[in-house]
Amino acid sequence: MQSVPRPRYSGKHRKYTPAALLPYKLMAKKSSSRTRPPLIVITGASQGLGAALALAYARAFPGAKLALVARNARNLDATATRCETLGSAAHGFVCDVTDMAAVARLPAAVAKVFRRPPDIVVNNAGRFTPASFAATTPAIFDDMLGSNLRSAYLVTRAFLPAFAERKSGDFVFISSISGKIVLPNCAAYTVAKHGLTGLAAALRAETKGTGLRVLCIHPGATDTAAWDGSGVDRSRLMRPASVAEAVVALTSLSSHTVAEDITLRPSGGDI
Ligand SMILES: NC(=O)c1ccc[n+]([C@@H]2O[C@H](COP(=O)([O-])OP(=O)(O)OC[C@H]3O[C@@H](n4cnc5c(N)ncnc54)[C@H](OP(=O)(O)O)[C@@H]3O)[C@@H](O)[C@H]2O)c1
Repeated sequence: MQSVPRPRYSGKHRKYTPAALLPYKLMAKKSSSRTRPPLIVITGASQGLGAALALAYARAFPGAKLALVARNARNLDATATRCETLGSAAHGFVCDVTDMAAVARLPAAVAKVFRRPPDIVVNNAGRFTPASFAATTPAIFDDMLGSNLRSAYLVTRAFLPAFAERKSGDFVFISSISGKIVLPNCAAYTVAKHGLTGLAAALRAETKGTGLRVLCIHPGATDTAAWDGSGVDRSRLMRPASVAEAVVALTSLSSHTVAEDITLRPSGGDI
């Protein structure tokens, strides 16, 4: 565990890529209406959905500044390099988001690199350990709540003062379909994701009208390493890029609108 989040890159801020490469007209419009490329913090950006989110923001917003947070430095390096080839300024911050002290230092570390607070914070980091209620040990229970729920609380708490002072900013919570409904054999994960959905709702209730937006996304089964060894038919799972593009589009809506709770599910049904 790294106790101090630290920049992994001294990366150059590259020129913008042509707007023609943008995936959506909506994003092109939003991008051009911003006075500067957005700064986005993404937790769990070393792989899976978090890496897909980083790439989707890099594609959608030429010159985007990406603060990529996770524990695995090598995988963070790989994500950052891919984003930089798309024209982003991407920096990795090695940080265990369950570590209160490390998370508390994260805003200053990000500000030191990018010289400003973020526009968007995506609480994506999380872990999935399938287990029935009876098979859920206290260790599994604590790990699911720590990595999926307490982590997002800590990260949000760390960045909230800057958002409140500036009176703008999007907090995105990557909950789960297990944050809305109950599926068998993932008891502690279900508790954690229901808690995360509640955390987002509580924050939204208290920040409504202040310029902040709180988005909660409920993805169903998505094809990431979380499903390795599960034996499921991977062709039934959603593509991480599709989920990521949806999140980018939702945070690109006019500031008059907030996508409060959005469910994305495999078109063939839940796994
Ligand atoms: N895949 C699905 O079917 C699915 C469905 C619904 C919701 N989700 C949610 O989507 C999010 C991403 O999941 P995924 O499928 O992409 O999983 P994944 O491939 O296992 O990636 C999880 C990410 O979270 C990071 N992470 C985990 N614990 C961390 C910690 N303590 N500190 C910092 N980073 C940590 C990991 O980075 P390091 O290991 O490098 O730290 C990794 O980048 C999770 O919140 C998950 O619950 C996934």
